Amino acid sequence: MQNTYYKRVGEYIVRPAKREDLPRVVAINLMTLPEHYSDSFFEELLTESPETFFIAELAGNIVGYIMCRIEYGFSTLKKFGFARKGHIVSVAVLDEHRGKGLGKSLVLEAVNGMMQRGCGEAYLEVRISNVSAIVLYQKLNFKIASKISGYYRDGEGAYLMALSLIPNAS
Ligand SMILES: CC(C)(COP(=O)(O)OP(=O)(O)OC[C@H]1O[C@@H](n2cnc3c(N)ncnc32)[C@H](O)[C@@H]1OP(=O)(O)O)[C@@H](O)C(=O)NCCC(=O)NCCS
Repeated sequence: MQNTYYKRVGEYIVRPAKREDLPRVVAINLMTLPEHYSDSFFEELLTESPETFFIAELAGNIVGYIMCRIEYGFSTLKKFGFARKGHIVSVAVLDEHRGKGLGKSLVLEAVNGMMQRGCGEAYLEVRISNVSAIVLYQKLNFKIASKISGYYRDGEGAYLMALSLIPNAS
């Protein structure tokens, strides 16, 4: 059955992505970020984790997206132990539609989906120079867990940022 959930953000709507949205999502990824992926990777993430793949649109035109992967591995937040984690793989909003709350809404919707999938943590990597993204994540309570030197192909380092999804966890 088609998922008809959507959230209004001013004139825009944020809704779960559909397969037919993927060519436009790929195009936005190419326009906005230096990290690109194969078409099959976008399809794989939508198939494996539709609860965390959202798009933002204005009058039927897609202007932003977020896609994530559900993983199980070492906890990013605790010194020891394992966790089910939601990994924000890619999020972007077209330049002319930024600063309107879409980035924040996309991350919040994806985090909600991670909680539905039983994740105890959300995490992501972000370029050290990417101030707008770092501020966005910090506003949503993500904390810098560590710094990874030379993480990106061009040699720039990343911050690993994480958020606990367990209520009242310290
Ligand atoms: C990061 C990105 C997704 C933010 O999208 P957005 O729709 O502009 O974000 P929002 O409007 O929801 O802003 C959320 C918060 O981030 C902060 N923020 C956004 N842009 C900012 C900027 N240029 N400088 C400082 N803070 C900024 C604001 O404080 C804002 O909070 P507020 O609404 O309380 O003021 C967008 O800039 C983008 O697509 N960048 C290119 C792709 C990218 O870098 N993705 C992240 C990879 S890790």
